[in-house]
Parts: sequence; structure tokens; C-alpha cells
Amino acid sequence: MRLNNRTNLYLAGGILVFAAFVCVFTVCFADESQAEKPGGNNKCYVCHPDLKTEELTTNHLDMDVTCDECHGLSTEHMHDEMLMTKPDLLFGRAEVNKMCSNPSCHKPGGERSVYGRQDHRNPVAVEDFLEKWRGRMRPNGRAVSRDSICTDCHGTHNITKPINPSEDEQAAEWIAAFNGRDLAGWQPSGNASWTVKRGRIIARPGANGKGGVLWTKAEYEDYLLAVTFQATWPIHAGIWLRGAGSEQGPRIEIFEKPKAIAFTGSVCVPGKGLALVNLRKDLVDREGWNTLSVKVEGDRIQVWLNGKEIGVVWVSGPAKGKIGLYIEGQSAELHVREVQIQQLTKAE
Ligand code: HEC
Ligand code: HEC
Ligand code: HEC
Repeated sequence: MRLNNRTNLYLAGGILVFAAFVCVFTVCFADESQAEKPGGNNKCYVCHPDLKTEELTTNHLDMDVTCDECHGLSTEHMHDEMLMTKPDLLFGRAEVNKMCSNPSCHKPGGERSVYGRQDHRNPVAVEDFLEKWRGRMRPNGRAVSRDSICTDCHGTHNITKPINPSEDEQAAEWIAAFNGRDLAGWQPSGNASWTVKRGRIIARPGANGKGGVLWTKAEYEDYLLAVTFQATWPIHAGIWLRGAGSEQGPRIEIFEKPKAIAFTGSVCVPGKGLALVNLRKDLVDREGWNTLSVKVEGDRIQVWLNGKEIGVVWVSGPAKGKIGLYIEGQSAELHVREVQIQQLTKAE
């Protein structure tokens, strides 16, 4: 992975040199020296190429505020082959204003603890902007309101979809099966309710705990899957891997069965019970986001939860099918933020 990243860096360097011939020489020259700095942004652009031109990133880079300054060195994140280790520093919606209002960055005026609209150099322009966009969706997918945080109004930093760098140039990409806005490409069945709010799929069981599934319309054969979710506990939810009509392939469980000593990441096969059991209760973050990653290759199913491998199991079932988010039970809620799929080409 290390080597691979370096290769990509050289590639990016090559592209920059080429670009220097194409556009205004002096400007690009400055860009290039910026990129060569050890603390520059290039190592992050490898997987987050959209941020090269994004407003928040470029404005800050002009002042030598690099990705590292805000997100930490994030070495593990960069070298995580399964792409499941988070960067060192992340900011939820509630933390953004506070983080930007660091006195050495955007110092609030008066007694205020948080940099506000009135602290801008041109508050009238900011109010005009607010009126223009109020209640409407900006290109970054955020609605602007009186309570807006910096990143609602500034940039498109929040919607950049990273890609997966791979050994060769034609390698498959991760596809976001959930677009963050609506359920295009998905089809519900059963009794659960599925809504999209704040970039998340929110699943609730039907009346009397009746279950339901949100299926992809597309079918998949061999693939890598990464689902990032948050749950309220207790819950019984899961991910069907190859739903094909009445014949259903295995399901990865999101649940807690303390008596049976089986936890999230176990694999259930309909009619047969648990084919793979996760014995470790502590792998799941009950309050935060979790990522279940699965490699489905022929009959072989390999599962990781938050970067820790749970195991491998061989299961017979349909050779291809739909991927389905599943929920049942009483008053539980499942939030899904990412469903990333990378199709695998069959090894001959
Ligand atoms: C090897 C590829 C790779 C490199 C290099 C990389 N990232 Fe990422 N990054 C990803 C992927 C894939 C995701 C999406 C994972 C997810 O959605 O949880 C991501 C997500 C993120 C997120 C959002 C995480 C979240 O949960 O919201 C941040 C912030 C981030 N990267 C920062 C950085 C920074 C800063 C660097 C450079 C120091 C960097 N990344 C380098 C692949 C990479
Ligand atoms: C000035 C500080 C700052 C800099 C510089 C910065 N970020 Fe961020 N980043 C943030 C904040 C704040 C958020 C949360 C934004 C939000 O959700 O409103 C964020 C969010 C992200 C996300 C998550 C998007 C999502 O929807 O979950 C990614 C990916 C990311 N940053 C990558 C990078 C990379 C890569 C760089 C450098 C090229 C970078 N950031 C530079 C502050 C920064
Ligand atoms: C309601 C939308 C909105 C919010 C929220 C917002 N800004 Fe702005 N900001 C703007 C607009 C519009 C401008 C450009 C104003 C102009 O034309 O001069 C701007 C300009 C700026 C500038 C350029 C210099 C200046 O003072 O005008 C900085 C720096 C800045 N914002 C930082 C922030 C930070 C930090 C936050 C969060 C604490 C924030 N903004 C929140 C709309 C917003």
C-alpha cells in the first residue's frame, strides 16, 4: 500500500509537471513547489482528487493550512488497505463552527465564542447571501438557514467522494450505491420504513416490529462492500448479500445476542442459522459510526467490522443477487451513511 501510494504520488507529480506546460507558467510553478512540500496536500489528493479545486481546501492551502492541520497526519487512514481507518480528526456538524472559531483562525468579535455572520468583513454581503439561499439547497447538498454552519455556505468540502487507488490504472472503482440524497437505485420490500435525512438512510421497523428490506435494484456477483452505519440498541438489522427472489444468500447481522455469544458481523444463512459467529462484543461502537466490510467471492464470504477481521466462511447460495439493508424488531433505528461497492472481476 505504501509503495502504491508513492507510485500514485509520482504519477500526480508527473501530471503537475505536464500541467505546467499547459497553463500559465508562473502560477503552476508556484503550485508545484507547494505540492512538493512534505506537508503538502498531494498525499491526500491521491484518493480525494476532487478536493484539489474545492474552495475550502484551496483557500486554506493558499495560507499553508493543509489537510493535516485540520484532520491530523492521518497516517493510518492513508495506509489502510481496506480504507476503514478514519482520519485522526473529524468534525460532526455540531463541531464545525467551534473548530473554525479557533482564535488563531477565525476570531469571533466582541464576547462571542463562535465566529458569526456579523464577524465577517462584509456582513451585508453575508446577509444577502443568506436571504438568497435561505431554505434552499446549495450545490454542496446543504440547506442554508439562520443556524447554518460555515460549511453549509462555504465550499463543497463535505460531498467529495473519494476513490480507491488500485494497482493498475483500469482498476475498478468504489461506487456509492447510496447517493446521499434519495433512494434512487433502491427498492423497499416488506414493512419497514426507509427515509433519507441529512445524507443518511434512516430505517425503522414496521408496526409490531415487522421487518423489511431495502434492496439495490442492481444485482452483484463478486464484490467488495463497505457499509457505514449507526444503530440504536437493541436492534436486529443486517445486510443481505445476494438476494435472488425467494432464494436468499447469506446475511451479515447487526445485532446483539449475549446469551448465544454472537454479535454484529456474524453471518446468518437462512434456514441454517449462523455460519460465522463474531464472539467479540467490543468491536462495535454502540454510540458512533461503524463500518462493516465484506468480500464476496464465489462461495467465500469474508467479513470485517471496523477494520478487524471477523472471519471467512464458505456458504452455498445464489451466485449473484441484490444487496439489501434489513431491519426488524421493536423501536430500533438504523442509520446508514455509506454503501460503497466495488465489483470484482472473476479470477480465472
Ligand atoms: C488510500 C486512499 C486514501 C488516502 C491516501 C486518503 N484518504 Fe481520506 N478517505 C479515503 C476513503 C475511501 C474515505 C471514505 C471512507 C468513509 O466513507 O468512511 C476517506 C474519508 C476521509 C474523510 C472523511 C471520513 C468520515 O468518516 O467522514 C476525511 C476527513 C479524510 N478522508 C481525510 C483525509 C486526509 C486529511 C488525507 C491525507 C492526510 C486522506 N484522507 C488521505 C481514502 C483515502
Ligand atoms: C480548514 C480546515 C480543513 C482543511 C484544510 C481540510 N478539511 Fe476536510 N473537513 C473539515 C471540516 C470542518 C469538515 C466537516 C465538514 C462538514 O461536514 O460540514 C471536513 C470534512 C472532510 C471530509 C468528509 C466529508 C464527508 O462528507 O464526510 C473529507 C473527505 C475531508 N474533509 C477531506 C479533506 C482533505 C483530503 C483535505 C486536504 C486536501 C481537507 N479535508 C482539508 C476541515 C478541513
Ligand atoms: C450564511 C452563510 C455563511 C455562513 C454560515 C458563514 N459564512 Fe463566511 N462568508 C459568507 C459569504 C457570503 C462570504 C463572502 C462575503 C463577501 O462577499 O464579502 C463569506 C466570507 C468569508 C470569509 C472571507 C473574509 C470575510 O471575512 O469576509 C471568511 C474567512 C469566512 N467567510 C469564514 C467563515 C467561517 C469561519 C464561518 C463559520 C464560523 C463562516 N464563514 C460562516 C457566508 C457565510
